[in-house]
Amino acid sequence: MNLIHYVWINLILLYNIYDGIGDKMDKREQYLKIRKEQADKDGVICVCKQVTERRIRKAVREGRRRFISVKQATEAGSACGMCQPIVEDIIKDELNK
Ligand code: FES
Repeated sequence: MNLIHYVWINLILLYNIYDGIGDKMDKREQYLKIRKEQADKDGVICVCKQVTERRIRKAVREGRRRFISVKQATEAGSACGMCQPIVEDIIKDELNK
């Protein structure tokens, strides 16, 4: 294999990898958008694990006072972690009642 073949093959590989990442991102964004719309209807805070605000508040009332223990009890925030600030706000709010 000469240098031109080597460079050409690597360019094709890089293009395929980049193109695949783009597809995955689009599918993930579409998935999250659909789940978010459903979550808004159902009161779901953690879209990944489908955990509702009611379930988070119940975990706090049962004695879980920190994010990590609510996470262990409900699985909220145990996937992508995007919901962590909202879960923490709910915990604070429930503890201040
Ligand atoms: S939205 Fe909660 S872990 Fe992803």
